[in-house]
Order: sequence, then structure tokens, then C-alpha cells
Amino acid sequence: MMKSVGILGLGHYIPEKIITNQDMEKIVETSDEWITERTGIKERHIAAANQATSDMSFIAAERALADAGVNGEEIDLVIVATASPDHAFPSTACLVQNHIGAKGAAAFDLSAGCSGFVYSLGVASQMIKTGLYKKALIIGAETLSRIMNWNDRNTCVLFGDGAGAAVVGEVEEGLGVLGIDLGADGSGGSFLVQPAGGSRKPASAETVAANEHTIHMSGQDVFKFAIQIMGATSKRALKNAGMTPEDIDLLVPHQANMRIIKSASKRLKVPMEKVWVNVDKYANTSAASIPIALCEAEHAGAMKKGDTVLLVGFGAGLTWSSIVLKWSK
Ligand code: ACO
Repeated sequence: MMKSVGILGLGHYIPEKIITNQDMEKIVETSDEWITERTGIKERHIAAANQATSDMSFIAAERALADAGVNGEEIDLVIVATASPDHAFPSTACLVQNHIGAKGAAAFDLSAGCSGFVYSLGVASQMIKTGLYKKALIIGAETLSRIMNWNDRNTCVLFGDGAGAAVVGEVEEGLGVLGIDLGADGSGGSFLVQPAGGSRKPASAETVAANEHTIHMSGQDVFKFAIQIMGATSKRALKNAGMTPEDIDLLVPHQANMRIIKSASKRLKVPMEKVWVNVDKYANTSAASIPIALCEAEHAGAMKKGDTVLLVGFGAGLTWSSIVLKWSK
């Protein structure tokens, strides 16, 4: 019989420094009113100059391990979902593996934009279900402030930094991950892209001068995609779990934009009281947004054992991801 696999512990880390919409008004031509109305964002947190993605991952990881009551040595799989790793190589997951003392554990980064954490939960849960691994540490972490164009008001007001982590392992029968829907539409790749720094356009004085190492986004195209996919992928994951939207006790969506979150709530007919929202405080932290939201929701007592929790995200790729969990803690 296949094992039941779910989340054993959660932890997150938000850097101290806050940049409010009023601060953004001093950086680019924008207004608190525009940002609030179009996105719901009021402020975002930015990593300190000496903090990289791994540093935030370490803290989130230690908190998740403590929450689960698991030692680093017990972890045999480490996945870090990020679009802003410390280096192109080695992976940030290898840095985390070394930091927590998970000797010999498999470790790799996963690139699926803002869908990355839910993708990682999908991958880790299946590898544990089959018995290949026993306990995984999965992290969504981003230092997007380092790859933002601070002169581009179309993008720089939207993003923030942070990290969220989960320990994944065997849970009581019938609880944990019940339905998964992961997918992508690579034809939309150009809508959200960091054009330079890879093999297509290696770093050069020209690419730096042209700001090609920063996030380039066609906001309206991503918006249209997000509105359509959030409901569709959620319904598929629910169907895989033998459930319908009425069964949802808590919806934890990717925190990109309040209008996208409200549209998902409407399409799924899940009232906003059952939707966790923190985009106002942290803006879009990409792969970190769902684990941060999940961790905050748990600390606030928003779910109890046996509750049905739906995680749903979309992001660069373009990708989408949703997972239905019966809460197991
Ligand atoms: N302040 C003031 N005005 C602005 C700003 C700003 N910060 N940014 C853009 N504008 C202006 C534009 O220049 C434009 O002006 P114009 O009409 O004179 O040309 C006007 O506002 C309207 O711009 P739109 O792009 O049409 O605004 P829209 O309502 O589409 O909102 C937004 C833009 C918020 C980016 C929206 O499209 C969106 O949220 N898209 C989804 C983005 C997203 O979720 N991205 C993350 C994906 S996940 C990942 O993997 C990272």
C-alpha cells in the first residue's frame, strides 16, 4: 500500500528591511494609490546587502526542522525552488544540504518560477510515496530585489524577498497530499524572462548596460494567463483528489496580485474568508510566497488537522501548480 505523505513542519523568514509604497514613490514615478488599486500591495521586504537566497533559506529551514522535530541528518532529499539562486551552480539546495548537515542527501534546485514550491511538494511527495526517500526538506526562497530593474515601474513595485520551508514525510493514513496538478505552457516563456546571464546571452558590459539581467515581464499577458489558469488547475487537482471546490477549508494562492486572488476566489466560489492573503505585506515573493503564506496561516490557527487545504500557483515558464492536502499536523 502507498504511503500517505504530507507536511510535518513549516518555517519562514522575512528580511527586516521594509520598503513601503511611499518609499517607492521616491524611486520611480508611481503612487501608493496606483499600486494599491492595481495590485493590493502596500509594502515589501528586501534582503540586507549581505543576505543571499541561501542565507534566508537556512533560517527558514532551521525553523521548519524545529517545527517538525526532525534533525538535519534525517533529511535525505533537499529541493530549493528559486529563480534567484546564489549561483548558477552549485545549486542553492547543495548549500542548504551542507548547512543543515543532511550528509549524502540528494539536493537540487527546481526552476518553475512562482509555481516552484508547489512543484517541489509534488516531486518530493511522490518520491517519498514510492519509498525512494523518507524525509524531504523543500524550500521556496527568493532575493528578487537583486534581479529587479529599480528604474522600471512596471515591475519594481511588484516584488519582494523572503523564504519558506517545509519538511515533508509520512503522515497518518488518508491525510497529506491527495491531489496534484502540475503543468506548463512553454509558448508563454517570453512573457516573464531574465534575458541575459545564461548561455543564450552571457553576461557582458552590453547586457549589463541594457538591464538584461533583470526581470522583464509583459504584465497584461501574465495577468490574463493567471486569471484563466488559477481556477482550471485548482479544479483539476481537486478532481484528482475526488473533491470539489465546496470541500476547501483554506485556499492558499500564490500572492502576486489581489485582483488575481479575488478572481480565483470568485471562479472557484470559495469566499474570501477562506483565502489566505498577505500580498499587502510582502508583495510577490515568487517561489517563497506560498510557503510563507502557509506558515503564517498555520501560526494564526487558520487550519486544523483534517482540514482541506488547496495550494495554487502560476509563474514564469509559464507554469502552474496546485496541490490538495488534508492537513496532517
Ligand atoms: N505606477 C504608476 N503607473 C504605472 C505603474 C506604476 N508602478 N506601472 C505601470 N503603470 C502604468 C503603465 O505605464 C500604463 O500607462 P499607460 O496607460 O499610460 O501606458 C498604465 O499604468 C496601465 O498599465 P497596465 O500594464 O495596463 O496595468 P495593469 O492594470 O495591467 O496592471 C500589473 C499591471 C499590476 C503588472 C498587472 O498586469 C499584473 O498584475 N499582471 C500580473 C503580473 C504577475 O502576477 N506577475 C508575476 C508572475 S509570477 C512569477 O513567476 C514572478
